[in-house]
Amino acid sequence: MKQVLGFDVYGTLIDTHGVISLLETMIGDSAARFSIAWREKQLEYTFRRGLMQCYREFSACTRHALQHTAESLGHSFTEDQFQTLIAAYQALPAFPDAVPGLEKLKDTGCEMHAFSNGQREAVDQVLENAGIRSYFGETVSVDDVKTFKPSPKTYRYFMEFTASSPDNAWLISSNGFDIIGASAMNMKTLWIHRNKQIVLDPWEFKPTAVIDSLEQIVEHIGD
Ligand code: 2OP
Repeated sequence: MKQVLGFDVYGTLIDTHGVISLLETMIGDSAARFSIAWREKQLEYTFRRGLMQCYREFSACTRHALQHTAESLGHSFTEDQFQTLIAAYQALPAFPDAVPGLEKLKDTGCEMHAFSNGQREAVDQVLENAGIRSYFGETVSVDDVKTFKPSPKTYRYFMEFTASSPDNAWLISSNGFDIIGASAMNMKTLWIHRNKQIVLDPWEFKPTAVIDSLEQIVEHIGD
């Protein structure tokens, strides 16, 4: 049976902290802390908008989170700096293990798709800019169902869109909430655990396997 792989994008293929060096030119030593707070707030906004059933596109969550983080950490960006940071988000780099991991998978006969909270065009652009768009077939965007991961609607939509089922649908993600969301929908899941300081929530849903890098996916597909 053909295995259908859904790759989470931001935080899994694409390093959301790739803006740190740009932030350093604007706010110096606070850059790393700022980047973490920005990402956390962005995700919080997706969760809250999902619960409120008050959908706005992912890029709005990113912009609003940038505004909130700047204000709460006491930084004021000029309009130019703000736009530069938003543009940089569209040019984030791939993680170093992305190309080697995807290369190992490309001749295995698996179907590979990007599956993201981001809108299709934005995801295609970020993958293109990072040099990895060509590894994927379709970009499956939650924008089509107007809510965010980990809503069950998003994982159901991935399986519908790719004509897959819990028998052959995989989610590959570094985001623990994403792994738990897909596991709860009975998808097979691989948690990419690069940063050992991150701990998976001790819920009843467990990944199919935990691996250190995208390069190890190939060893688990078909499990
Ligand atoms: C994504 O859907 C969760 O940000 C992550 O790409």
